[in-house]
Amino acid sequence: MHHDESNAIISSAPRTGSTPSLVYASSLTEDVFYIFGNTGDNISNIKLVRLPTVPDYRGSLTFIEGNRHVPFDIARVYYLYDIPHTATRGGHAHKELHQLIIAVSGSFDVFIDNGREQRTVRLDKPNVGLLLCSKTWRELENFSSGSVCVVLASIPYEESDYYRDYRDFIRSLK
Ligand code: TYD
Repeated sequence: MHHDESNAIISSAPRTGSTPSLVYASSLTEDVFYIFGNTGDNISNIKLVRLPTVPDYRGSLTFIEGNRHVPFDIARVYYLYDIPHTATRGGHAHKELHQLIIAVSGSFDVFIDNGREQRTVRLDKPNVGLLLCSKTWRELENFSSGSVCVVLASIPYEESDYYRDYRDFIRSLK
């Protein structure tokens, strides 16, 4: 099937304005950092959250319980690994799904766009997660060598829950 330029899926958001400074997970000083300000109900906030960690001489242990450390039941876990440095993942938003994204090893950037504001967050700590609510456009990029991205999701995989075209995502917000 032939698609001309105007029919091609737009899987990366047009970056607006000047490049905002990166928010680093590793510079978190509080237990919670709101990326776009603390507004609306709890689930619709986009935030970095510090995860409970038990360090001792044998190493560190971090744990996450559904409806306690994330504001949803955990229905699915998936992870990305063997990621080429040049790869971009994501490039979509979800209709209903909420998720927590963690760099359990290495680091990568999560560009996020809620239709009004854009921000890039660098996940670079295994005990800090980025909580993304539904209707948030995301692109993952700049993966460090050997990095591993773990995602905890509120619903099972369902292709119909995706906005894979940026224009559909923006239309859905109106
Ligand atoms: P996709 O969501 O496009 O990956 P990413 O957002 O990380 O770039 O998914 C890639 C492929 O994997 C796609 O064919 C759907 C499939 N997939 C599943 O079957 N189950 C899942 O839980 C996920 C996340 C993806």
